[in-house]
Amino acid sequence: MCGIIGYVGKDSAAPILLDGLRRLEYRGYDSSGLAILNGSGMEVRKCSGRLQNLRTLVAGSPIKGSCGISHTRWATHGPPTDENAHPHLDNTGKLALVHNGVIENHQSLRNGLEKNGHTFRSQTDSEVLAHLIGDIFDKQTEGTAEMRLVDAVRKALRKVTGTYGIVVVHEDAPDFLVGARLGSPLVVGLGKGENFLASDVAAVISHTSDAIYLNDHDLVYMTGEDFKIESLDGGSVSFEVSRVEFTEEQVEMGDFPHYMLKEIFEQPDSILNAFRGRLSDEEASAKLGGLNLTPQQLREVDRIVLVGCGTASHAAMVGEYLIESLARIPTEVEIASEFRYRNLPLDKSTLIFVISQSGETIDTLAAMREGQRKGHRVLGIVNTVGSTIARESDGGCYLHSGPEIGVAATKSFTSQVTVLALLAILLGRMRHLSMAAGKQILQEIRELPDKVKTILEQSDRIRDIALKYLDAEGMLFLGRQFNFPTALEGALKMKEISYIFASGHPSAELKHGIIALVSEDLPSVFIAPSDSVLEKNISNIEEVKARKGPVIAITTEGNEEVARIADDVIYIPPVVECLSPILASIPLQLLAYHFSVAKGCDVDKPRNLAKSVTVE
Ligand code: AGP
Repeated sequence: MCGIIGYVGKDSAAPILLDGLRRLEYRGYDSSGLAILNGSGMEVRKCSGRLQNLRTLVAGSPIKGSCGISHTRWATHGPPTDENAHPHLDNTGKLALVHNGVIENHQSLRNGLEKNGHTFRSQTDSEVLAHLIGDIFDKQTEGTAEMRLVDAVRKALRKVTGTYGIVVVHEDAPDFLVGARLGSPLVVGLGKGENFLASDVAAVISHTSDAIYLNDHDLVYMTGEDFKIESLDGGSVSFEVSRVEFTEEQVEMGDFPHYMLKEIFEQPDSILNAFRGRLSDEEASAKLGGLNLTPQQLREVDRIVLVGCGTASHAAMVGEYLIESLARIPTEVEIASEFRYRNLPLDKSTLIFVISQSGETIDTLAAMREGQRKGHRVLGIVNTVGSTIARESDGGCYLHSGPEIGVAATKSFTSQVTVLALLAILLGRMRHLSMAAGKQILQEIRELPDKVKTILEQSDRIRDIALKYLDAEGMLFLGRQFNFPTALEGALKMKEISYIFASGHPSAELKHGIIALVSEDLPSVFIAPSDSVLEKNISNIEEVKARKGPVIAITTEGNEEVARIADDVIYIPPVVECLSPILASIPLQLLAYHFSVAKGCDVDKPRNLAKSVTVE
């Protein structure tokens, strides 16, 4: 996916666009560019590489003007080169467009335009859209340039299949932006004498907290003083102005060297925010107001499907263990990209949850729509307020974690598991979970933030352990029961930011093939707290040690048995077994972080990745 931002107002556009891109870089960072209307025409600067390259280009050749667009790219069609960077121009060079999404019928459109004499400069699908809009615009003769541009965008998008979030400017319509969305997010930022369009409200939070989250098929056009939102077919649409709940400093890195470390250290607060106001001592249960289901409806649920991608799917797997153990409801996890195509047999009393930090992951969004298409209520467990999944789901819960900028999910994982624990308690207390058991788990949830703080105090020690294994070319992550998903999550953290091979497995799977990999060059990380399967984990650690495999163990404070046999041990405070993934995942986050930083990797913007996958 990519980051786009448009500005029209009274101030110089270049610094606003560049600062907005800095806030959007997590969405894609292999090239960037901007186009600004300078009063007598349009100037474009764009280049491959990181945003700093664009800053240098603009500093060396400044652009005046108070209306423009900009883009930071995660390449889908065509490698990250200067020519493939956005903005893209039409055939005349007077129209510029930035695009987030995929134009699926770009080749047929391109063939038609080339037959009509169009010459393309890039290999991208997005450039085809710029030419298509420009071609229609140039053939229009009626009306003002502004209205001809709106009409040209509308007519062009009717010819397109695929997804888009776009912003368009034209030299003949100075101080005027046109935007539209289908499948990729686009937000209107409302300022005083200035207006914005962006992929994510984080890009404009320095200028305004008033936002309108556009829906699919919305088209918007604006000046610095006014704006109008219509549907693609020209009809009027209703919209609401939302007040953005997070602040500018929450988007900044503060004193931390990386967003990822900041977000790891935010977890005492983010976990607290996930359960704040949602614990009911009186009922020894949880309160989740956004589910939009009555107690009777929840009581009738006899099967649950949890859907997500990546880290969200790992949280879902912990959720499966939680719901089945606390509420005794058959629960299964579906990877969103599989669920959307596999036609799972579901009956009326099945409840579906989609889990997504960004609320924009295209496979998870499509899975939600597939469930709804079959008549199911689909609830969302989402972090990003106003995101597409949050708005289109039939209800759900926000994580309230605040913006998660680092590409590697950290606080969103522990908050997702916390919310899933609340859901399991709520459903369990409607069934067989006793008041005493409910009270005990609520108390354990309350104690999580302080327990997380004690783990974070070990960050330096965990860095020392990471440095000890810096030459490792691979790593195994092993756990059982509630911590089998934790092992998967630990492996994902390690591989996605350090680029070494890492895999997660149930500990007992070692004997079924995995142990063939064990050698003195391959460290194994065991999540082995003092729980119901500790003895079994200890046996597995012994098996690895017997084959000279180094072992890093995460275990409960005071567990001397594990400390005796492991090469390195990281302690977590005692916690009820079903909540242990929340604590055990934090040393794994820190291990991956320190390991990757020591290897010189860019932990906030790892290669080939982007924070939210809004293209298939
Ligand atoms: C995890 O660290 C990655 N960032 C990735 O696997 C991510 O969890 C996945 O793309 C799902 O994103 P979402 O939660 O925003 O839907």
